[in-house]
Amino acid sequence: MTPAPYLTDVFDRPMTNLRLSVTDRCNLRCQYCMPEEDYLWLPREDLLTFEEMNTLVGLFAELGVEKIRLTGGEPLLRRDLPLLIRMLATNPRLNDLALTTNGVLLADQAADLFAAGLHRVTISLDTLRPDRFTALTRRTTHARVLQGIEAARAVGFKGLKLDTVAMQGYNDDELIDLIEYGKQVDAEVRFIEYMDVGGATHWRMDKVLTRADILGTLSHHYGPITPLNENSRAPAERLMLPDKTVFGIIASTTAPFCRSCDRSRLTADGMWYLCLYATDGLDLRQPLRAGASPEALKSLVTRTWQGRTDRGAEERKALERNGVRGALVQLEGLRQDPHLEMHTRGG
Ligand code: GTP
Ligand code: 5AD
Ligand code: SF4
Repeated sequence: MTPAPYLTDVFDRPMTNLRLSVTDRCNLRCQYCMPEEDYLWLPREDLLTFEEMNTLVGLFAELGVEKIRLTGGEPLLRRDLPLLIRMLATNPRLNDLALTTNGVLLADQAADLFAAGLHRVTISLDTLRPDRFTALTRRTTHARVLQGIEAARAVGFKGLKLDTVAMQGYNDDELIDLIEYGKQVDAEVRFIEYMDVGGATHWRMDKVLTRADILGTLSHHYGPITPLNENSRAPAERLMLPDKTVFGIIASTTAPFCRSCDRSRLTADGMWYLCLYATDGLDLRQPLRAGASPEALKSLVTRTWQGRTDRGAEERKALERNGVRGALVQLEGLRQDPHLEMHTRGG
């Protein structure tokens, strides 16, 4: 098969990576993502069926998307998810089919996900301490997450990654423990700077543990750290400890990577967003359900990507100069449009 020609945006960024949120529901309430008491959920009848998701992914793949990451909310809450994975796994244009989960339901589902053809799993793990987990997530399922990580390994997933949102005053004293845990379970730990995305209504710059802080702590303990200097479009910068352990830092807050961003997001109800920070998206559900032809849908996507100028994280950073950087969207805004939430958009 001849490779699809790359569709590029205004800044010459290709459309190669799609994050597909399969549900906006979540079984945790992480403070950096869902700090409120109650939420407005997407109406059930608006949620795309697996057939609709597979159709849209197929069109995106014909336009050059090679990587799909399934996200949530918590994707494992979507009933029968392995059926969707089976459909997507047959698409020869996709060379990477991954999933980001909070791990709570992973022990139950890892074997079915693997059998369905999922290539990779990334699990969020912010702390190794059950009491901290409960304080952060308002749930008591920490042990389930650790069991989920073990299960993912046991059923055969390779290249496990653990995502840790690093926060000042929360887990800044656990960076080394997390790296050591990653070594034990053969997973690559990635520290993510706390971001001022929609939903992070309690965000403040002084709660961000920065890339520089993280490197300072780790090099003080382990010795010199070597950057791998990979020329990639992935948000994580990969680095190596003296003992050759590789870890990552996703410095979206202090060192945004918009320049090379090749990703977009499709919400569970078929809204397509060109940036994590975008306030407006393109509704693909409506034309799909109205019977638009594949060619018409592809041309809509093509035109939209060709006009893409988003560089949300860089614009947020620029606000610091005037000292006005704070939460991206206030609570009232989130109540009016749940699509602005990180948990709707899929992290
Ligand atoms: P691989 O490198 O392919 O394994 O995946 P990934 O790093 O894109 O996936 P993952 O879901 O693990 O992403 C890690 C975290 O990076 C997300 O949870 C976000 O916090 C952050 N992130 C992912 N995509 C973006 C993006 O487009 N913009 C910004 N600013 N941050 C992102
Ligand atoms: N800052 C950084 N990462 C976040 N995530 C959600 N909210 C935030 C935030 N405010 C990411 C975490 C989590 C994934 C699902 O989404 O990495 O692991
Ligand atoms: Fe936490 Fe992810 Fe759920 Fe947000 S969507 S509350 S980050 S587990």
